Parts: sequence; structure tokens; C-alpha cells
Amino acid sequence: MGMGDDEEEVEEYLFKVVIIGDSAVGKSNLLSRYARNEFNLHSKATIGVEFQTQSMEIDGKEVKAQIWDTAGQERFRAVTSAYYRGAFGALVVYDISRRSTFENVGRWLQELNTHSDTTVAKMLVGNKCDLQNIREVSVDEGKALAESEGLFFMETSALDSTNVKTAFEIVIKEIY
Ligand code: GTP
Ligand code: MG
Repeated sequence: MGMGDDEEEVEEYLFKVVIIGDSAVGKSNLLSRYARNEFNLHSKATIGVEFQTQSMEIDGKEVKAQIWDTAGQERFRAVTSAYYRGAFGALVVYDISRRSTFENVGRWLQELNTHSDTTVAKMLVGNKCDLQNIREVSVDEGKALAESEGLFFMETSALDSTNVKTAFEIVIKEIY
């Protein structure tokens, strides 16, 4: 909301979106790129939970997404059910240059399905698409998995910003 907007009747929507996936796939950098246009080449593993609120406009209405980011590493994760509670959207992230992170997507989807309490709009995200020369997962494999699981799909790069905004906004629009 800008200055001076305080007294206007503003219809507001706040949606919770969670980001999940293995450690070091780039979850925190996707969020910092989207919310603050920042990227950190040497970011530390997330401990516990962090979140950022980001606004966008849909059909002339202000829609806010509260985007939650947690640790991919089991030992740093907070109470799982609380993380997923009330989430309407999810980005399930793997790293296109590390095949094991793609192979673990099924486990993340299972955890999401176990703990979510509503219908969740889901986007499969193949991050680090700037790393073409060391790619281990093809675009077609990503697409095929997304299709079979009923997810949206997009390859992104938090480093060079490719599709980051689009990936978040497709999920948020789907919720809305
Ligand atoms: P956890 O918090 O441990 O779960 O990891 P994370 O998924 O939050 O990963 P994070 O965002 O911390 O990124 C891990 C590493 O990958 C960092 O060195 C980032 O700079 C790097 N990285 C993140 N996104 C990209 C990307 O799109 N391209 C490239 N080349 N590197 C990236
Ligand atoms: Mg992190």
C-alpha cells in the first residue's frame, strides 16, 4: 500500500505459499530473487523457517502472498505440519544439474500431500537452468513428471532471473 492509501477501502487477499525441495536446490535464492531482486552466490543453508510477503495485482486487486522457505536438510527443519498448514500454493524445486534432487521430488510431493489441509496449487520448478553445460535432467523429463503428477512446470534461474517472477505468479494466480 502506498502512502495516503490508508483510508481507502482496499480488498486484500493473503495467501500462503510454501517452497520445498532438497538442500541447495536454490529455494532461498528463488525467494530472495522474487521478493527483493537479490541473489547470493554463497548463501548458507536455511535453518528453521523464514518467510517474506510479496504483493502483486490481479484484476485490479492487491493480492499478497506470504511465501515460506524452510531447510531442505532434515536436521534443520522445524515442525513439518506447521510449515504446511494453511498453504494454498507450493513450489517443489529441484536442481537441473543434480539428478538426485529430481529423484527426490516424489518424496517432497508425498510430504506435501500428507500434511496439507486444503487443495494446493503446485508448480514443479527445475532451478539453475543457467547451468546448461552440466545439466543432468532434461526439460522433457521435468515436463513429463509434472504432467503425470498434475503440476505446473517451469525451469528457472535465480542467478539470471529467468522465469522466477512467472513461476511464483502462476501459482498465486491459480490460488486466487
Ligand atoms: P537449503 O536452505 O539448505 O534447503 O538450500 P536452498 O534450497 O535454500 O539453496 P540456496 O538458495 O541457499 O542455494 C544453494 C546454492 O545454489 C547457493 O550457492 C546459490 O548461490 C546457488 N544457486 C541458487 N540458485 C541458483 C541458480 O539459479 N543458478 C546457479 N548457478 N546457482 C544457484
Ligand atoms: Mg535455504
